Amino acid sequence: MHNVRQICEDTWWVGASDRRLELFENNYPTPEGMSYNSFVIMDEKTCLLDGIDNAVRDQLFENLAHVLGGRPLDYLVVDHMEPDHCAAIPDLVRRYPELKLVASMQGFRIMGQFYPDLDVESRKIVVKEGDTLELGRHTLRFITAPMVHWPEVIMSFDVHTGALFSADAFGEFGALGGNLFADEVKWTRTYAREARRYYANIVGKYGPQTLAVLAKAAKFDLKYIFPLHGHLWRQDFDRILLRYQKWASYTPEYDSVCIFYGSVYGHTANAADILAAKLAERGLKNVRVYDSSKTDVSELVSRAFQYSTLVFASSTYNLDIFDGMDHFVQDLVKHNMRNRTVAIIENGSWSPQAGALLKQRLGRMSNVQILDPMVKIKSSVTEDDVEQLDALADAIVEDLAR
Ligand code: FEO
Repeated sequence: MHNVRQICEDTWWVGASDRRLELFENNYPTPEGMSYNSFVIMDEKTCLLDGIDNAVRDQLFENLAHVLGGRPLDYLVVDHMEPDHCAAIPDLVRRYPELKLVASMQGFRIMGQFYPDLDVESRKIVVKEGDTLELGRHTLRFITAPMVHWPEVIMSFDVHTGALFSADAFGEFGALGGNLFADEVKWTRTYAREARRYYANIVGKYGPQTLAVLAKAAKFDLKYIFPLHGHLWRQDFDRILLRYQKWASYTPEYDSVCIFYGSVYGHTANAADILAAKLAERGLKNVRVYDSSKTDVSELVSRAFQYSTLVFASSTYNLDIFDGMDHFVQDLVKHNMRNRTVAIIENGSWSPQAGALLKQRLGRMSNVQILDPMVKIKSSVTEDDVEQLDALADAIVEDLAR
């Protein structure tokens, strides 16, 4: 049965949620599932904006058929050619044989790679920055958004309604529950965290490209923002746009400390907790501590986007950084994390290596200041080590006061 909702003039949400999904992109945990938004504009011409993931495409087909009410589908705008949005293209073409496909040149190149047997040539409309598509009352104006989050991405702006169809930008992890709009839920308290985890991990590598798109979007008279995942926006745009300005410019939300530890038998964790308590005693608020062996790396990366000062505490393991911490640091470097103050706590029972390796790998990030002292522990925390932790707490507080 169809499940649709009209979201603005002539425009329907025809998407779906997948609550069985364990890992988005077979990589990121989705304990609250995942939503895939898809939209139809009903005008003199009918236009679907983006497809959907294979897991829920039957729901899209039912929704679409209901809204079309027997009319043909004239256009499919492919803002993004990643399979969580394009998997239904071959079936859509079979169901609506007159369908024209609208995408960037690179979008069509990738479409040919995913669907080499699909007859694209006879139905393709290539668009570039500033091109328009007339539907009747509605005109779609296209904005290129390379690397937000693939190179072929375009966004579509409906000049008539002021709706920006923003592709992956402004998305969230998590299924939707009827309340499609952010103003219908306690978004900041309940969903902002998953919007950050989504941004940091999916788009976070491409901050400069995201800032470029934000600058383009600022020139439009925005009335709605319709991303391909998560809640839709029709008011309070600053709640999401100001967060994006911070995340995309690698500006922390909190001037405080997030401590990440990798601990085999608990002694490195002990040092991390002692440091956290010393920071609290010195008046710092919002200090957090994470176990990098237990907390998923996507959450750790998300917290690194949130905090100004990051402490990495690791046991030495196989003459290297302990596994979960090693994965986390690699991911931070891959996501182009920058503009942070970091500190290091090393543990090792013999041939300690974690500190030097952390310093080397964290040094690959841009504009990273590594604080002294590096705390060095041999197996368990001693009174002398507590003095080192005091010195590090002083250095962190002094740095944050600057
Ligand atoms: Fe939601 Fe980059 O795909």
